[in-house]
Amino acid sequence: MATKILIPYYSAFGHVYHMAQAVAEGVRKVDDVEVKIVRIKEFAEVEKAMSENEYYVKAQEMQSDIPVATHEDLKWADGIIWGIPTRYGSMPAQMKQYLDSAGGLWMNGELEGKATAVFTSTGSIHGGQETTALTSFVPFMHFGMIFVGLPYGENPEQLTSDAVGGSPYSASTVAGPEGGEQPKEVDMTMAGRLGARVAKVAGALKTLR
Ligand SMILES: Cc1cc2nc3c(=O)[nH]c(=O)nc-3n(C[C@H](O)[C@H](O)[C@H](O)COP(=O)(O)O)c2cc1C
Repeated sequence: MATKILIPYYSAFGHVYHMAQAVAEGVRKVDDVEVKIVRIKEFAEVEKAMSENEYYVKAQEMQSDIPVATHEDLKWADGIIWGIPTRYGSMPAQMKQYLDSAGGLWMNGELEGKATAVFTSTGSIHGGQETTALTSFVPFMHFGMIFVGLPYGENPEQLTSDAVGGSPYSASTVAGPEGGEQPKEVDMTMAGRLGARVAKVAGALKTLR
């Protein structure tokens, strides 16, 4: 049976959405996989507060055909790759709400032994790329998932002083203080490799679950 990979992400301005597409491309390079991209539900308060922000509105329109994530999606998946933009150095409340309401899955150990990884985006270079990835590990470890990183050997582009994404903990991109940057080719390349890596590990782990 095909290895099923889920990519749940939240994206206010589109950067993480684009990274999610690159991750999915990488997943599709692996044989016998099925990939599903789902977006984390937006808060009504944020939608209202941002309704005059043309960048937000445009980015939300761009994602309108992506299905909203359900907890059934998490049960369906053999591997889960989370797209998490930085909010004050850690995950957005929208993502936390999705996890906090998944207590039933935690209680039944539904996600235990599944491969997982994260990709992220920050406004600035030092605004929380690593902290967002590392702090996200805490809830995911409670769910019993098994982490896949982005090793230097396969991703030598990380060894740079340029303002690009990628760390041993996650694929990433720097959106810019005003969100004016787009994910660079190198960010997308590493995101794709992360997708492929998770697909391979998830395929191997599913035989053990
Ligand atoms: C409430 C809020 C808090 C943020 N906190 C940070 C931060 O701590 N560090 C940082 O570099 N960027 C921060 N940002 C910028 C976002 O991380 C950036 O807009 C996001 O990575 C872009 O991804 P997206 O286009 O997928 O939404 C913040 C943005 C918002 C709206």
